[in-house]
This record gives sequence, structure tokens and C-alpha cells, in this order.
Amino acid sequence: MARLLVTGGAGFLGVNFVRHVLAVTDHRITVLDKLTYSGNRVSLEGLPESRLTFVEGDIVDALLVDALVQDADAVVHFAAETHNDHALAEPAPFVRANLVGTFTLLEAVRAHGVRFHQVSTDEVYGDLALDSPDRFHEGDAFSPSSPYSATKAGADLLVHAWVRSYGLRATVSHCSNSYGPYQHVEKFIPRQITQVLRGDRPRVYGSGEQVRDWIHAEDHSSAVLAILERGTPGETYLIGANGERSNLEVVKLILELMGQPQDAFDHVADRPGHDARYAIDSTKLRTELGWEPVHRDFEAGLAATIAWYRENEDWWAPAKDATEAFYAARGQ
Ligand code: NAD
Ligand code: TYD
Repeated sequence: MARLLVTGGAGFLGVNFVRHVLAVTDHRITVLDKLTYSGNRVSLEGLPESRLTFVEGDIVDALLVDALVQDADAVVHFAAETHNDHALAEPAPFVRANLVGTFTLLEAVRAHGVRFHQVSTDEVYGDLALDSPDRFHEGDAFSPSSPYSATKAGADLLVHAWVRSYGLRATVSHCSNSYGPYQHVEKFIPRQITQVLRGDRPRVYGSGEQVRDWIHAEDHSSAVLAILERGTPGETYLIGANGERSNLEVVKLILELMGQPQDAFDHVADRPGHDARYAIDSTKLRTELGWEPVHRDFEAGLAATIAWYRENEDWWAPAKDATEAFYAARGQ
């Protein structure tokens, strides 16, 4: 039995990870989360209090972080500012949370010799051409295009430097776009599902030909747990499930699954600097750690996600109006 400190455990991937770990291990978890607009305490309701402690706080708070790290066997670091459209509008919170926050955690795990896992994104590698067969690999050079991905890449570089300079026992994972329950309505798939549920039309940026490599949040959780338990400190692992689809394909599938005509969506203003395509080669994770995704059928996973948003309007409705007001001001 281990004691895990999970930062950002009230956000989308953090909640899914906490639920997965509590279900398949006997670990105890402390969640440290600031409850920004994207964190939701309700997402952790109903979980066993004997194994889960929630601390509302900021990863930039060095005293708090040090006290919590001292009592942990491992830190799994999800907390971040995560939305590209917010980063474009106001990058300062991304520098603070993603760079200074990760630095603060690294100093605490260094002081106490605690195992650390950094949850990162494939966006640190930049983007790939739409018409190329290339995929991202562990050895690729970082080439982030956006304020969000640049701060994630900077944080990952800090982790690698702390491994090399201080012998930190740390791993890093880079994942492609995830979908599933508990994802904020600002993100692509929940936004479009909740548009249809409210009787509004989905919104596709620009041409919609951009490609994302979709993976279910539960598969992301099992991959991070596999890396934590069996990964080699100092190593990087790419997490992906061969789920490449264009934004147009995804929107049309959502419309079909929700009984709407295929053309019942709008093209809106494109995202500045919009990355064309992401694609992951997860061979290393599969061959070295024996990990495999269980959600191999995207259509089935999407249908279950639609059902979750249909059944959990109380969870997402409070955030929907502010989200749409933000987009409306940007012509999106
Ligand atoms: P999210 O925005 O849903 O959740 C982020 C959580 O971090 C929230 O609960 C928020 O309150 C918390 N947080 C933000 N700043 C904080 C601070 N200063 N101190 C403490 N808590 C803070 O994000 P997500 O989609 O769950 O992403 C989690 C991690 O996974 C991020 O590091 C992100 O870069 C990475 N990632 C996400 C995806 C994806 O598709 N969602 C893909 C690859 C990597
Ligand atoms: P997003 O969920 O913001 O994730 P990321 O920027 O990390 O890939 O967006 C996924 C894709 O969907 C991206 O190509 C931008 C596009 N998009 C839309 O077309 N419409 C939308 O309303 C949103 C939120 C995103």
C-alpha cells in the first residue's frame, strides 16, 4: 500500500486517475487542487473517505507542498492550466501554474527523496503535417507552438534537469487528447455534446480538418499507473491508443449518435496558430511495460460519454454559460 499525492485531482484526468487507482489498488490518495474554474470538488464525491483526503491549495505554495510531499511515497502531477484558448487570451496563469508550480513540486520531492511522475502532453512536440504518416516518438525534440504547450515543455525540461542534476526518481508521460466523463465543457468533445443537449449547434474552428489522436481517460489512467509502478526513473513514455480522427469526423459522429443531421454544425473563427495534427507511437509503453488500452472502439466510448453528459447536466450546466460567453467574445 502506497500514499500518493495527486495534484490537480479535481480536474478531468486527475479525477479519472483517482477513481481508477481507488478501484484497482489499495493505495491511499491525497488530492491537492486549487479548484480553479476547471476543478470541481463534486467530481470526487462518493469516494471512500478512509482512502481519500482532499486539500484545497495551490501547487505554488511551497510550505503547503513541502508538508504534503513529506507524507507521500509518490507524487503524480496533473495540476495545470490546460486550455489553449485561455492561454492565447491570457498566458500569465499558465506560466505561474505550469512552470512555477512544477518547480515548487520538484524542490519538495528533491528535499524528501520522493518518486515523481509528470503528466504532460504530446503538444510539446509541436504538430505534424496532415498528409504525413509520421507519429511522435519519445526521442523527438520539443517544438511547442502555443503558450500552453510551451509552458508544459518548460516544466518537462525542469523535470529532466532535476533527474540529471539531483538524481530525482522521476518519469514523464506525454499523452494525446483524452475524452470521457468529468471533462470541462470548454474542451472540444464536451462542448459539442452539450451544445446539442442545449439545442444549439456544435462549433468547428476553421476547416475542421485538424487531426487529434483520441484516447479514453480510463486508458490514460491505467497507463500512468503502469508507469508509476513499472516505469524506469529518468524515462519518458508516450501514451496513445491509435485514435486519429479529424475534428470534422468527430463532430459528425457526435451528431449521428445524438440523432442530428450531419450538417447541423457551424464553422467559426479558427484558433491562431492552430496545430494541424497530433499522433502518438506508444510502442515503448506497450512493449516495455505491457500496457494496452481497453477502450479500442471510439464510437462506443463516445456514445458512453454522450450518455454521461446527458445524465449529468447538474455537473456541467453551471459552467456552460460562462464558457460560451468566453467563446462568443472570440467569435468562436
Ligand atoms: P483540467 O483543466 O481538467 O484540470 C486541471 C486541474 O488542475 C483542475 O482541477 C485545477 O483546479 C487544478 N489546478 C490548476 N492550477 C492549479 C494550481 N496552481 N494548484 C493546484 N491545482 C491547480 O486538466 P486535465 O485535462 O485534467 O489535464 C490534467 C493534466 O493532463 C495537465 O497537466 C495536462 O497538461 C495533461 N494532459 C491533458 C490532456 C487532455 O486531453 N485533457 C492530454 C495530455 C495531457
Ligand atoms: P481542445 O479540446 O481545445 O484540445 P487541444 O487544443 O489540446 O487539441 O481542441 C481539440 C481540437 O478541436 C482542436 O483542433 C481545436 C478544435 N476545437 C473546435 O474545432 N471547436 C471547439 O469548440 C473547440 C473547443 C476545439
